[in-house]
Amino acid sequence: MKLLTSKEVLVDPDELIVSKTDLAGRITYVNAAFERVSGYTRTQAIGQPHNMVRHPLMPRAVFGYLWERLKATEEVFAYVVNRTATGGFYWVLAHVTPSRDAHGQVVGYHSARRAPNRAALATVEAVYAQLRQLEAGRRDRAVVATSMARLHEVATAHGGYEQLMFELDARQEAA
Ligand SMILES: Cc1cc2nc3c(=O)[nH]c(=O)nc-3n(C[C@H](O)[C@H](O)[C@H](O)COP(=O)(O)O)c2cc1C
Repeated sequence: MKLLTSKEVLVDPDELIVSKTDLAGRITYVNAAFERVSGYTRTQAIGQPHNMVRHPLMPRAVFGYLWERLKATEEVFAYVVNRTATGGFYWVLAHVTPSRDAHGQVVGYHSARRAPNRAALATVEAVYAQLRQLEAGRRDRAVVATSMARLHEVATAHGGYEQLMFELDARQEAA
């Protein structure tokens, strides 16, 4: 993996970063905003597993939850920090949904990401730091279950995961 840097790429407020994957999470489509922000061209991205932009700051529990929802053919919102081609990072609020064919069969997934509410990021970072600490140094599946249970606990304290997402999105900058 390329060396990580502290260079943040900001997503424009009117920009929508789109990618699509097959059922296994391999990229089948990216838009121009994806290319601009991630620094990867279409040619570099298409055919790659989506973890090509995975940043080590992301806890495994969040992706565990994402895939659990997608396999249940549910949509999911998630705050995600991704890695750019040059090792920098960018924060997004992603909305990931299953894509269906004319017969209603799920044939892949679609993610549309926008600039996150900056006032939410300190809270998100604190929760993710906690989850990473639970996951640190362990590759086994049991640890993801523990970390997902912690994520569930945090969400429940806010009235559920979706409620927490809405609350974070609506949060105002402290005066
Ligand atoms: C439509 C779609 C979009 C995704 N977008 C991202 C993304 O932007 N960043 C990311 O790290 N993982 C994304 N993922 C999740 C990855 O497939 C993968 O689960 C994650 O990067 C964790 O990698 P790992 O499974 O190798 O640990 C996406 C998955 C799907 C189905």
